[in-house]
Amino acid sequence: MPKSRTVRDYIRTIVDFPHEGIMFRDVTTLFADARGFRMAIDQMLHPYAGMEIDKVVGLEARGFILGGAIAHQLSVGFVPIRKKGKLPGTTISQDYKLEYGEAIVEIHDDAIAPGERILLVDDLLATGGTAAAGIKLVERLGGEIVSCAFVIDLPDLGGRRLLEGMGMDVHALCA
Ligand code: PRP
Ligand code: ADE
Repeated sequence: MPKSRTVRDYIRTIVDFPHEGIMFRDVTTLFADARGFRMAIDQMLHPYAGMEIDKVVGLEARGFILGGAIAHQLSVGFVPIRKKGKLPGTTISQDYKLEYGEAIVEIHDDAIAPGERILLVDDLLATGGTAAAGIKLVERLGGEIVSCAFVIDLPDLGGRRLLEGMGMDVHALCA
């Protein structure tokens, strides 16, 4: 019997994107496949069955696709964290370092109420800089991060260690 495909099997690696030396994990091939996408969303939801979650926060850009689907499944609201200058309302900002550069992310300052229980979602955990900045933004608004969910964890880049060191619960589907 042929072996059934796992989430990892739907993700392709593009060498030297966006810079030389980066092995870019491209999840567009996962999202484009109905079975792969459903499998990823179902598996990301699995640890949170029965858990109280008030909102999903997604990190630009691929965290919007995953986070939107997860929020829909949980019947909760979705809040975007975007790169600087993209959100139209009043925002708070956080700078951070990436595997290949630096950036600033923002959240609307009225997007989360104090005490709300938040699930943070993105496609990939590398250095953890992006997720750590997202966590700080949520916590600055008084939200409580219940967990952080990713499709991919690149363990050599230390993101999981960083987030767990901040006291976070971290789930990823594959490395
Ligand atoms: C990628 C990925 C994560 C982040 C992870 O996004 O989608 O958000 O990098 O890296 P880190 O753990 O080292 O912070 P990218 O910054 O490429 O932005 P994009 O989604 O807007 O393309
Ligand atoms: N973000 C940071 N590193 C990445 C990688 N190797 N693939 C995809 N997104 C990334």
